[in-house]
Amino acid sequence: MIEFGSESPQRRSRVLVADDTDSVRSLYSKLLDVDGHEVIGASDGAAALAAVYEHHPDVVLLDVGMPRLDGLEVCRRLKADPATRLTPVVLVTGLSELQDRIKGIEAGADEFLSKPVHPMELRARVGALTRMKQVLDMLDSAEAAFMTLALTIEARDPTTNGHCERLARQAVALGKALGLSAADLQALHRGGYLHDVGKVGVPDAVLLKPGRLTPEEFELMKRHPDIGDALCAPLQSLRTVRPIIRCHHERLDGSGYPRGLKGEEVPLLAQIVAIADVYDALTSHRPYRPALSPEETARHLLQEAAEGKFDPFHVDVFLDVVQPTALPVA
Ligand SMILES: [Fe+2]
Repeated sequence: MIEFGSESPQRRSRVLVADDTDSVRSLYSKLLDVDGHEVIGASDGAAALAAVYEHHPDVVLLDVGMPRLDGLEVCRRLKADPATRLTPVVLVTGLSELQDRIKGIEAGADEFLSKPVHPMELRARVGALTRMKQVLDMLDSAEAAFMTLALTIEARDPTTNGHCERLARQAVALGKALGLSAADLQALHRGGYLHDVGKVGVPDAVLLKPGRLTPEEFELMKRHPDIGDALCAPLQSLRTVRPIIRCHHERLDGSGYPRGLKGEEVPLLAQIVAIADVYDALTSHRPYRPALSPEETARHLLQEAAEGKFDPFHVDVFLDVVQPTALPVA
């Protein structure tokens, strides 16, 4: 078994082997060591669970029959925790124990190995799962980097404090009220944070200008949706968010930017974020104007909907969701 704690910048994949039989742990360790994995051992379920949180393995190999907590229960707990549910779990079961496999599927196990474990199969399974985990980790950290970038851009402008977080929350609330799918709600949440990520390409002198922009400055500002879209293009995990980034300043009557799209050309999720974006901008203080009251903002949004910029039904539902008691009397 390899000593834990000797991390190099490109660390080896780490595998947790949980089995109450010393000779089995030792055999698995030797086999996985050949492929360069770093192996951590645990002799019962409770120790396995503790080791996952302490060492963050890339793959967890669990014997089903272990003292303290059995492998099924450890698996269930790992898959129920958002912090560990993406860690692949392999359950090692008896050859003919169909019931264990069915319970394992229900517990969320990613793979199964039958006893006696064939060395080649063990190495192949663990190898495939560590590669998958590495891809997941890369996506995870790329998205995290983008979220950080979005919040950094927000931090450049002290007048927009908390805008992204409020926008994400309100866009999701409108999406929920419209009965959108979980995938759409996730895109709205990410879009709330990332919609203005392209402002990284807008100079401070324009982004932070306290007064009205000149036509030339506005042309620069109008580039931020396309800059953001191009930034996110390499990330497959952000493909559903890109239409929001690209189109959150488009308006249904064609008066928006950068393309002047009309009606159904404007993606639904972008329409939703646009309503929340305008609402939050108007209810926030700016150096050149005070914040509007919720009632004034509602009137403004309803007026823009009447002019054809937004879907009136979406605006009605949005106002119902964000300010149920503050709707203006017609
Ligand atoms: Fe924007």
